Amino acid sequence: MTKIFSPTDAEITFAGEIIKQGGLVVFPTETVYGLGADGLSDKAVQKIFKAKGRPSDNPLILHVADMQWAEKIGEINENARKIMEKFWPGPITVIVQKKDIVPGAVTAGLDTVAIRMPENETARKLIKAADTPIAAPSANLSGKPSPTAFRHAFDDMNGRVDAIIDGGDCDIGIESTVIDTTSLVPTILRPGGITAEMLAEILPDIAVEQHKKEGTEGYTPKSPGMKYKHYAPDAQVILYLNQKRLAEDIAEFRKQGKKVGIFKSETSTLTADIELSWGKDTKDLAKCLFYSLRRFDELGAEVVLCEMPEKNGIWQGVYNRLYKSAGFDVRE
Ligand code: TXA
Ligand code: MG
Repeated sequence: MTKIFSPTDAEITFAGEIIKQGGLVVFPTETVYGLGADGLSDKAVQKIFKAKGRPSDNPLILHVADMQWAEKIGEINENARKIMEKFWPGPITVIVQKKDIVPGAVTAGLDTVAIRMPENETARKLIKAADTPIAAPSANLSGKPSPTAFRHAFDDMNGRVDAIIDGGDCDIGIESTVIDTTSLVPTILRPGGITAEMLAEILPDIAVEQHKKEGTEGYTPKSPGMKYKHYAPDAQVILYLNQKRLAEDIAEFRKQGKKVGIFKSETSTLTADIELSWGKDTKDLAKCLFYSLRRFDELGAEVVLCEMPEKNGIWQGVYNRLYKSAGFDVRE
């Protein structure tokens, strides 16, 4: 039986007890919902992989509510400290060398650990109540879009976890930026809410890991998670950098008898069988992205044609998620 909690102090304290006792709790963060367990308990962490159907070679993020805990689980180097001081609490995960107390199940045997201090009030209260770093991947079944609304977390995790905290909709809508500070040059492994431009203000030199299609010659992803197919709705997703081509393809797919969805800006006048607007800019799009991908499936879209927004702000993160949902199908 999965208990549903509201984010009151009393219920968050109770959820913290569940974590302490080795149970699983789904909780809101400012990015996406997380599927949490005691990050220092090998046994509790194993349950996460089972509940999600996640391959055990894909490491997890440890969530902390203060720097003391971050220091206990990782070697905080100079660049890592700069990032943490500037952007924590917030949507950025920092990879550092791990300390011995971190169980191998969390890091999938790597000698590094990913640490994040979320800003969401409920998440922070839960971590404090549990008095341990909370290991948490996104709370979706493996391969599904990350949940950014309570209902989607519930759809995927009801019956698989001890409790779900209903924290409403997530603010940012895509997962945290992941930055590796153990490489010679700090490297963004996953773009997110904290952008490369923002990081460049405090770090003289940063690199961005390019994500290529699996099987591309000479390409081995640095972050284990990057090699898995992600964020896949049932519908075929195609990205368009050009409005004219988008309009032509709507007509073409409809001629083929396909149920066509378009994911478009609020000012677009294009029409199709299913139309969802992503708003006016990249920030709006990020917030409703995963929600909308699930919605297209619920509405029975067979193809989803997506208009891309202006290249600014959180664009890299949005493009990275959509690019993978689209199975790398981008049309000029
Ligand atoms: O916003 C977020 O980051 C959300 C919320 C719940 O905090 N969490 C999340 O976790 O997105 P997950 O497990 O879905 O994604 C974590 C990513 C994966 O791609 C994983 O491979 C990578 O971080 N990762 C974790 N530890 C790593 C490590 N030591 N080295 C390289 N990559 C690592
Ligand atoms: Mg995930």
